[in-house]
Amino acid sequence: MLTIALPKGRIAEDTLAIFASLFGTDFAFSGRELIMEREGFRFLNVRNQDVPTYVEHGAADLGVVGLDVITEKEPDVVDLLDMRLGQCSVAIGIPETEQLDWSRPDIKVATKMVNIAKNYFAQKAVGVEVLKLYGSIELAPLVGLADAIVDIVETGTTMRENGLKVAEKIMDSSAHLIANKQSFYAKKAEILDLYSKLSEAVKESE
Ligand code: PRP
Repeated sequence: MLTIALPKGRIAEDTLAIFASLFGTDFAFSGRELIMEREGFRFLNVRNQDVPTYVEHGAADLGVVGLDVITEKEPDVVDLLDMRLGQCSVAIGIPETEQLDWSRPDIKVATKMVNIAKNYFAQKAVGVEVLKLYGSIELAPLVGLADAIVDIVETGTTMRENGLKVAEKIMDSSAHLIANKQSFYAKKAEILDLYSKLSEAVKESE
């Protein structure tokens, strides 16, 4: 039995749709169910940012999670496959009407992704204060909490509707299949069998 942690929402639905097409049966969590067993797999319904924790600690053998989360948390796991789901980017957003002068000494950047933001600005040798927020990041520049944000951009709608624009792109992201290191050795045949089925399905959908 392989246990697979999926991030609540679209990526979980898209991943389960791939399983449904591979195994010819319906794969879906019902109601507020957090564990679902089907066809020899056990799926866990977890928050996006929690997927690496379940996998790193072996509560799940495998997980599907955004490259942005992997980059932010640097979990000690095996990165097996780019599933090409949930494609988005991590970008710096600033007010539409502004041109940020990065040499200013007192720039504040609000973000959920503190490590990605800090690493990016450190690489560019730009000194900024990074403020950690947990959601509604686009609000911060509108009320003077921050000069800029580092956030996920998928369609661009959230930034646009809040009068922000992308100033710089930091990285592209999509959902990756990750594995617990011990599981990868202990259950190698099972994991590689699933890996080859999933990578075929990903290739076919391109
Ligand atoms: C993300 C992100 C943006 C939005 C971008 O939030 O933080 O707010 O999506 O998408 P868009 O470019 O298509 O508008 P999400 O909906 O994942 O919620 P969260 O803040 O709870 O993570």
